[in-house]
Amino acid sequence: MSDVFFAPAGSLRGEVTAPADKSISHRAALFGAMSSGTARICNYLHAQDTTSTLDAVRAVGADVSVRGDEVVVRGVGLGGARQPDAPIDVGNAGTLMRLLPGWLATQDGRTFALDGDASIRRRPVDRIAEPLARMGAVIEPTDGRFPPLHVRGTRLRGISYVLPVASAQVKSCVLIAGLSADGETTVTEPAPSRDHTERMLAGAGVAVRRAGADISLARATGLDAQDITVPGDLSSAAFVVAAAVLVGGSRVLVRDVGVNWTRVGFLRILERMGARVAGDVEAVPSAGDPVASTEPISDLEVTSGPLQATAVEAAEVPLAIDELPLVALLGCHADGETVVRGARELRVKETDRIAGVVDGLRGLGARIEATDDGFVVVGGTQLRGGTIDARGDHRMAMLGAVAGLASREGVRVVGMQAAAVSYPGFMRDLGRLR
Ligand code: S3P
Repeated sequence: MSDVFFAPAGSLRGEVTAPADKSISHRAALFGAMSSGTARICNYLHAQDTTSTLDAVRAVGADVSVRGDEVVVRGVGLGGARQPDAPIDVGNAGTLMRLLPGWLATQDGRTFALDGDASIRRRPVDRIAEPLARMGAVIEPTDGRFPPLHVRGTRLRGISYVLPVASAQVKSCVLIAGLSADGETTVTEPAPSRDHTERMLAGAGVAVRRAGADISLARATGLDAQDITVPGDLSSAAFVVAAAVLVGGSRVLVRDVGVNWTRVGFLRILERMGARVAGDVEAVPSAGDPVASTEPISDLEVTSGPLQATAVEAAEVPLAIDELPLVALLGCHADGETVVRGARELRVKETDRIAGVVDGLRGLGARIEATDDGFVVVGGTQLRGGTIDARGDHRMAMLGAVAGLASREGVRVVGMQAAAVSYPGFMRDLGRLR
């Protein structure tokens, strides 16, 4: 564990390129492994979580070679995953833990165990085990709910499944299983969540259909291997964007950010708060539009300025789920009372992000209260600063870093391994902007 101090910044100026998207990197590697050809992935995110995905697909027989920023995956085909000798270690990667079983559950006669770090063992997997079991899967979480998870592949049948929570991970898991299930599989979302899986499957030649809240596909004969360039991660860019909004006198250009409409909820929240962020964000598709097979990219130009409070309601939560800690920080500096509701999901992320954000920001001088499903922040004052415990969660560490730049006295971030996920690249970027 290393402590890092983030001093108040005068102003942030210049340009940075957003780190590669984590969600898209996971999917590109997994779908490459599930194809029967060779997938070339440019700008793959080289971080702990996405390295776990490369190791996992290797463990089930895919051939992976890494040449700088390019990752080449030679797949084993939809039904060709090999039974590994040891449990698959997903490390800290929740997305890998939720997506991979959708594929493995269809591998007739082969058995798999999936495990991860201490944080993963506290994160629920019954949310995927339940729909997979309805499809006929043989799947056993520990105590019915948590990793380690055991899966024995078998022939599945398609189902219609109404998601109890809007979760792109659960949606993806069911759709992936549906690729090898008999008949048709439909997932109904309570609210739209990130749609990278649908897009990438469409790009791999699968007939994925969206009708209102329903996403459907039928058993596929195979996935085409795709050459993919991973866009920048809006969720990482969001920290730089927030820093540039909050630190007076700032003007920053963030290059090559993925602006898929299911990812830009944070930018819409910022717009309501009065922040000045310019970019070419994807429009919400019209009913009846086919599922897109590509990901839109834009530069974002951010200028600092005053903020007003806002309310974030449940329907908006899945479109900004990983950025909600930043909404709390922005709320501290905004005029009025900022409220986030319907975000109970934050309690089952890498850490309980409601408790972490509220305790963390309060320690820096914020007037913030936790609710069961979100938080309420009374804004209007610049944060004092102090020490924040990231609790091993990279997004909490980056929140502390941005808070430090925008504070009066600076913030010391403790409780973070420097090598974790997007943290080191982010710190380099901030250094370049000062
Ligand atoms: C992700 C979906 C979200 C998000 C996570 C990545 C994905 O989780 O918080 O960081 O890649 O599908 P949920 O599906 O649990 O909402």
